[in-house]
Amino acid sequence: MVEKNESVTIAVVGSGYVGLVAAACFAEIGHRVVCVDNDESKVRMLHDGGVPIHEEHLPELLSRHRGKTLEFTSDLRAATQSAQAIFIAVGTPQSQTGSADLSYVDAVASEIARSMDSYKVIVEKSTVPVYTNEWIRRVIERNGVPKDLFDVTSNPEFLREGTAVVDFLHADRIVIGAATETAADLLKKIYLPLTSGSYYNVVGSVPGPRTNVDPPPILHTSTKAAEIIKHASNALLATKISFINVVANICEAAGADVEEVARGIGMDTRIGPKFLRAGVGYGGSCFPKDVAAFRHVAEQVGVDFGLLHEVEKINEEQKQRFFQKIRSALWTFRAKKIGVLGLAFKGGTDDVRESPALDIVKKLLSEGCVICAHDPAAAGRCKEVIPEGPTMRYVDDPYAAAQDADALLILNDWQEFAELDLAKLHYTLRYPIVIDGRNLYDPTTMTNAGFTYLSVGRPGLTQPLDPVSAFFLPRRRDGAKA
Ligand code: UDX
Repeated sequence: MVEKNESVTIAVVGSGYVGLVAAACFAEIGHRVVCVDNDESKVRMLHDGGVPIHEEHLPELLSRHRGKTLEFTSDLRAATQSAQAIFIAVGTPQSQTGSADLSYVDAVASEIARSMDSYKVIVEKSTVPVYTNEWIRRVIERNGVPKDLFDVTSNPEFLREGTAVVDFLHADRIVIGAATETAADLLKKIYLPLTSGSYYNVVGSVPGPRTNVDPPPILHTSTKAAEIIKHASNALLATKISFINVVANICEAAGADVEEVARGIGMDTRIGPKFLRAGVGYGGSCFPKDVAAFRHVAEQVGVDFGLLHEVEKINEEQKQRFFQKIRSALWTFRAKKIGVLGLAFKGGTDDVRESPALDIVKKLLSEGCVICAHDPAAAGRCKEVIPEGPTMRYVDDPYAAAQDADALLILNDWQEFAELDLAKLHYTLRYPIVIDGRNLYDPTTMTNAGFTYLSVGRPGLTQPLDPVSAFFLPRRRDGAKA
């Protein structure tokens, strides 16, 4: 039974989104943490005060704990030897077959095994298929480590990019998959400042929904159940999104508003209101990869999970449908100037992995459009994928993206995109056409402000625009520039 807060020595292997956030948050709740990465330049950057990702609260946590209870190193052996718990948070990219590529996990497990000289709890933090726990255990044993010198556990993360620190410190639940009480107790000790509520009384603690009287619950399961919980959670959330996107398409055809429909569905407490926002489809480093990986797991154990195949198909089609909507508003694409707001796969992050926005931009470029794009954080990363050039420009504010454009697209949901000065925007655009893939505006407000406004699953100008009338839409007093 774990009763009082005690500092645990933790090694976190991998300083990507999950590893870095976990390391900073473990230090924040009182532990001594070493974060290991084999990328020397990244380690140097972190050591010298850099913050490699855009994540709310992360800079403050890093500067609070760096050099005190949070260290960065590329020396896995030293970090492993001094740690009581070793969290594996390395990448599990999608392989050619759709399954998760576990070679990084395998390599790290072998390396940990080679430097193990006292009892350790190894914790899978990366999203991995069921049985990975079992494999890690086998790899460590193959390297000559006796069974009683370690336990392998699973402690999946449920962090959303952009809100990862709050999601960690104010978790809905903390899942611990552990086969032995010793291992479970160590993990419980690590999370005690959260589960006891004591962290929320600390002056300067990161604010969020949890309080000392409503701390996160802990769920102790088998390791296999913990592994499946993670994959199944992401697959179900992705399913919810694809479901509402199809409902949006029905709404569009029937002349109903999907926002009203989603509100009505979400008020059923059995369903809940979250993840029912229709749009251009889901993206990011997790959902596309995890849905494919879970489908693959099902296949491997002989279970037909065709539903997930449909979820993926709907997600692809949703992007194509949005593209057709742009075409219906613009008629032809060649040399059309398009303003784009949003490049990251969602607002609040700089991550462009599997971003629907990028797919749409690439397709527009291939059709001959000239793009001027703005994203508050993701332009730098986007430039690595789509370099700046005569047909692709990156600008620093939304109005610069809209300047003289034939239409403005909203492709992710940064808060500032929902708060535009509509009069200024109207004046700035060449034609006041806004095509909103995230339903950030009320159609009536936009129509009253003089815009041709297309969104997802809502009535309004959702039918193909008559290109002739589009040409005669209100123009600025100085006349549209050709
Ligand atoms: C997700 C999970 O939420 C998190 O628990 C897991 O640990 C990692 O994967 P993340 O990828 O950061 O987190 O993003 P999330 O906020 O879940 O959104 C995923 C995608 O779905 C985004 O493209 C987002 O725009 C889209 N989305 C989300 C919708 O289209 N509609 C919604 O209602 C919600």
